[in-house]
Amino acid sequence: MIDVLLGLQWGDEGKGKIVDFLCDKYDVVARFQGGPNAGHSLKINGQSFVLNTIPSGIFREHCINIIGNGVVVDPLKLKAEIEKVAAAGANVFANLYISKKAHLILPTHLLLDAASEKAKGDAKIGSTLRGITPTYQDKTGRSGLRLGDIFSPNFKTKYAELAGKHLQMIDFLSGDTDLAKLEPAWFEAVEFLKQLKFIDSEYYVNDLLVQGKKILAEGAQGSMLDIDFGTYPFVTSSNTTSAGACTGLGVAPSRIRKVYGVFKAYCTRVGSGPFPTELDNEIGELIRKKGHEFGATTGRPRRTGWLDLPALRYAIMLNGVTDLMMTKADVLCGFDTVGVCNEYNLKGSITSQLPYDLCEDGLSPKTTDMPGWDETLYIANGYDNAPDTFKSYVKYIEAETELPVSLISTGPEREKTFLR
Ligand code: IMP
Repeated sequence: MIDVLLGLQWGDEGKGKIVDFLCDKYDVVARFQGGPNAGHSLKINGQSFVLNTIPSGIFREHCINIIGNGVVVDPLKLKAEIEKVAAAGANVFANLYISKKAHLILPTHLLLDAASEKAKGDAKIGSTLRGITPTYQDKTGRSGLRLGDIFSPNFKTKYAELAGKHLQMIDFLSGDTDLAKLEPAWFEAVEFLKQLKFIDSEYYVNDLLVQGKKILAEGAQGSMLDIDFGTYPFVTSSNTTSAGACTGLGVAPSRIRKVYGVFKAYCTRVGSGPFPTELDNEIGELIRKKGHEFGATTGRPRRTGWLDLPALRYAIMLNGVTDLMMTKADVLCGFDTVGVCNEYNLKGSITSQLPYDLCEDGLSPKTTDMPGWDETLYIANGYDNAPDTFKSYVKYIEAETELPVSLISTGPEREKTFLR
């Protein structure tokens, strides 16, 4: 069977820690979309790691880790990541498998991403500039290169054709066309990757399912950044919702058992785009400081705000979430009151649905203040010992979403996790 774990907000929900925590129960962890725009943070034996492309099961000796066909891969970034996790003791050459159908991020994709963002001016998306959008554009435009192509005798010719096309586009956008500084290291990384295990991942994954193996599909980014259902155009370029696990791994919807939806006790977003509950004030600043809300991939400060229940319920509906998992509950310790948005006021009408355009003028959140909880949450040994006000907050979310919050995380370490 396959379970899916994904983010229900704008990314950075703390998925990496939860995957690492759950790994004991799974034989396989598989990434199905996104690429090095992701930054999944893990803390193992006091050491912090940020994984961009490698699945978060890599530090578990028994776990097979698969980079699925729906992922986009930058060889240079992947090489650096492999070296880092191998140095920390992960058995990466034995336990990492890559789909031949995953698409390659070329150096020109990075230049194109930067040139397109610059050309957008004030309307920029706030991309991570990892080449994600141009690579997915080439995939759907049917001109992309895939990992399996690196073994083709024509690889360099195919590469040169695509890079040449990109250079014309970059030139048109008045972007940086200095490829010479990027290419040698990129080709070196391509050679390095050849020692990895390349697979026909759709067959491989389905064979594992037939053998009765337990697979955890690890989502990247968050549901509100989904290309179809996110706050378009301020989104990423892949389906971050559970449907993406089917197309990004080649598994049928009927194979999916549980869908774990991870959300923070509040909200954050990095980059541009609508964010109804944003706290552009000292409370927001305090949450950013206490929660270390700076991008794991880019270091950019994250925007912060109260929990947005209309957005959360929307993400639950789209994904078919079966279990909720709340992270960073500790960050709100010490607040007298904690706000929760249950509805929006849209031009004088109250709605609990997400409007077509969240940027619309006249949209404001209706926020309820709930009693906050104190620092005893840090030392609570299990959920039963948590402050009552915190339990009320959890109960309120459960009532509003009609789902159990089955796991609560109160810190980056594996031990700081309550199961309910
Ligand atoms: P891109 O995916 O790099 O093109 O970025 C598109 C938007 O998604 C930008 O607002 C990014 O900040 C955001 N984004 C992309 N990946 C992540 C992530 O892993 N966490 C949070 N935001 C992300």
